[in-house]
Amino acid sequence: MARSLHAAPRWALLLSLVILLSCLISPGAAVKHENFKKCDQSGFCKRNRAYADDVYAKGSSWSSPYELDSNSIQFKDGQLQGVILKTVSAGEKVRLPLTVSFLESGVARVVVDEEKRTKGDIELRHESKARKQRYNEAGKWALVGGLELSKSASLDPETEAGVTKVLYGPEQKFQAIIRHAPFEVDFQRDGETHVKFNDRGYLNVEHWRAKVDEPKEDQAEDQSTWWEESFGGNTDSKPKGPESVGLDITFPGYVHVFGIPEHADSLSLKETRGGSGNHDEPYRLYNSDVFEYELNSPMTLYGAIPFMQAHRKDSTVGVFWLNAAETWVDIVKSKTSANPLSLGVGAKTTTQTHWFSESGQLDVFVFLGPTPQDLSKTYGELTGYTQLPQQFAIAYHQCRWNYVTDEDVKDVDRKFDRYQIPYDVIWLDIEYTDGKKYFTWDPLTFPNPEGMQGQLDESERKLVIILDPHIKNEANYPIVDDLKSKNLGVRNKDGDLYEGWCWPGSSHWVDCFNPAAIDWWASLFKYDKFKGTLRNMFVWNDMNEPSVFNGPETTMPKDNIHYGDWEHRDIHNVNGMTLVNATYKGLLERKKGEVRRPFVLTRSFYAGTQRLGAMWTGDNQANWDHLAASLPMVLNNGIAGFPFAGADVGGFFGNPSKDLLTRWYQAGIWYPFFRAHAHIDTRRREPYLAGEPYTAIISQAIRLRYQLLPAWYTAFHEASVNGTPIVRPQYYVHPSDEHGFALDDQLYLGSTGLLAKPVVTEGATSVDIYIADDEKYYDYFDYTVYQGGRKKHIVPAPLEKVPLLMQGGHIIPRKDRPRRSSGLMKWDPYTLVVTLDKNGQAEGTLYVDDGETFDFERGAYIHRRFSFSDSTLASENLGTKGPKTAEYLKAMSGVRVEKIVIVDAPQQWQEKSSVTVIEEGAKSGSTAPLEFHLQQNGKAPYAIVKNPGVGIGKTWRIEF
Ligand code: NOJ
Repeated sequence: MARSLHAAPRWALLLSLVILLSCLISPGAAVKHENFKKCDQSGFCKRNRAYADDVYAKGSSWSSPYELDSNSIQFKDGQLQGVILKTVSAGEKVRLPLTVSFLESGVARVVVDEEKRTKGDIELRHESKARKQRYNEAGKWALVGGLELSKSASLDPETEAGVTKVLYGPEQKFQAIIRHAPFEVDFQRDGETHVKFNDRGYLNVEHWRAKVDEPKEDQAEDQSTWWEESFGGNTDSKPKGPESVGLDITFPGYVHVFGIPEHADSLSLKETRGGSGNHDEPYRLYNSDVFEYELNSPMTLYGAIPFMQAHRKDSTVGVFWLNAAETWVDIVKSKTSANPLSLGVGAKTTTQTHWFSESGQLDVFVFLGPTPQDLSKTYGELTGYTQLPQQFAIAYHQCRWNYVTDEDVKDVDRKFDRYQIPYDVIWLDIEYTDGKKYFTWDPLTFPNPEGMQGQLDESERKLVIILDPHIKNEANYPIVDDLKSKNLGVRNKDGDLYEGWCWPGSSHWVDCFNPAAIDWWASLFKYDKFKGTLRNMFVWNDMNEPSVFNGPETTMPKDNIHYGDWEHRDIHNVNGMTLVNATYKGLLERKKGEVRRPFVLTRSFYAGTQRLGAMWTGDNQANWDHLAASLPMVLNNGIAGFPFAGADVGGFFGNPSKDLLTRWYQAGIWYPFFRAHAHIDTRRREPYLAGEPYTAIISQAIRLRYQLLPAWYTAFHEASVNGTPIVRPQYYVHPSDEHGFALDDQLYLGSTGLLAKPVVTEGATSVDIYIADDEKYYDYFDYTVYQGGRKKHIVPAPLEKVPLLMQGGHIIPRKDRPRRSSGLMKWDPYTLVVTLDKNGQAEGTLYVDDGETFDFERGAYIHRRFSFSDSTLASENLGTKGPKTAEYLKAMSGVRVEKIVIVDAPQQWQEKSSVTVIEEGAKSGSTAPLEFHLQQNGKAPYAIVKNPGVGIGKTWRIEF
């Protein structure tokens, strides 16, 4: 959050000035810890940690009070049902219905509810309007498929008393071993346990009970946080009393766990129970606008994806904790030698996690891998894959808070051209509006938005404007009038329209859980409604955690009420995504028949938001540490299924030095979402302002991104069909090489074999690149050879150099002609770079479509596999025909390959001067000239084939 000085009342203005001044004099920006809860300030977090500590302290003298009633168990059609009994006292047992579903994909899902709340058989306090049940609709937002129950899952005939075993998964190689008393589940693959539930006995389902004013002495549990909680001057009325769910999940033999974004931390998650190098606090997931967030921290940030991957040599497993309420995750790692039966040979470290959420059902999915790709695939089947974005969305975005007039935008646009720097999108932050009223333009500063968009369109460029969920509470603003009269806003605990403060001052919040609100919000995007917008306008949803300046922890009170009478507490982490969903819908059809892929950037997100748009890491700072931190953050988002991610290039707060800005661009070209952005108080920093040599170096970096757009688009396509990250961390690409598991500062682009290691330290003139595999890697620019095989190489990286290697064995598609925008590259010819592996072979893929519409769903695309072996380079079709295939291929028939580079070309090609080209449908073969370049000084020889003229959508062969 960063408050604007505009359109605020006097007191707010003065306050802002004081804050601003104190920021200017303080040496470094720092998060205000006192504004956000620590675990012991969050009632249920404290209670669950205390529960764990108590269980741990009691050791073997303690036994978990949860028991699966053996008589209740039924197994039918891939699903086990039963009732867990929680013993509260000798005479009192609480009934907790259990459902374990075994899915066709090999994923298992465990759901525990509470019978009394299910039936609404509880009392609410304070005359609350809230619903009585535990929240059970997180899946409605997060899940889109993959729930088909397994037909082959079956009870294991080899039973023991008190244990139920279910065989499931591919070829029934998975097994769930469900112990009844205490209730525990072991998930096995090939006879070995990989995931354990309630192994440590921390299962805790806080059941409903009536408030007793004076608890009896012998029941004197600490009730101080059960019925009401205060923090920072706000009181949460907690009408349902305590209702948290907690569970320990253990990964035996696993050293590393990744995922559960969003945190500014290393990729490999740290222990959270103290000790040197560890955190003291659990990782928190409670979407928040954290002003000046700190690094190396488990503090919550703007988004939450409760999906975790555990990795060890040759095995990846994971869990997805489907809960939309505030959630915390504790992690400890223990050295174990015991229980050789359930541990892999040589396994020493076990990662033990402990998850707890404030409300809702306990709902956990278990993934048994064994590869990281299996996890991406199966998790994506459930929550959806990355939206295949429009082509422009993966190019370069130029943003700042703010471009101040429409003439300013046009001027920046012209300057990019004058300096020959490509860009695709220019962005408008909140100041374009008339007094922070969304869906309006400031009439003084943006009198001619259409003219502005028209100029952008001349070079196929786009405009993105910001639209936040807070609606200004002001007379004569039709949008707020609508919101009120149609009852589409979030309500407070008394059932009245909730009012809070954000950029516009007094505001209301649209409740996008409400289908009527979704339709209404979507309708506002029609061209005749939102006057002054053209078809090249797209949207940025910010502040959707939601950020409420005067709310508890800068967000909404938890006892606010949403559509369906759910409390805000229940849905908080999904809230941001519901706005993106409504915006997506709005962009889908702004005019009848004009259906194109929407583009929405969001700050807040949950599992599933990847289907709807891109995210960025919020308000970072212009310093080297934040540049470094952006890499693990972006990588982590990718392995948590939301790879269309980036960080503000240059850093949001503060003014980067020219070196830092330059290095940030060189790193930013590796963010799937590549956007420069800056706070309103910063100096202008468009790349052409940097001066030489910086401007030229930054331009080169941006051009490199544009040159590789075909490879990027192919990586996005892969993500959109199988969930693989667009940029991949080391462990994901080399899952057998333990040395690389914790590496999070170098990355691979999709399956291209491109390995980048951005410079993130001041003054560095080289980088260390670690190469796991026994392959040759080649410098992207001069083909210097780096031999891999668990080797670290020092690669020169003076300021002008982007450290980038190509793994041997790949064919990388590029477009080499510099243009002003990606739209203008549409018909440009391709270059293929072939890097030979140690066997003299290579392969790669290319995916192309119109980059704009949904016609690819009807076959309008090109998907090729290129391969090189036995002196032949070939292109074969990977696509399947659809009704639009022929038309698309015809339109693309003029797009050809203009150049082929073979890196590490065989020496005997020195004698050759041409190659033979054979294309499908051609009457006879032709030839194309070949140039051989001998290289020394550690550089690989290479050959160039000029203008082979083969069609990019055609099947062909080139014989060398
Ligand atoms: C907060 C966002 O994180 C930032 O990117 C934006 O510039 C400001 N809001 C103003 O809209």
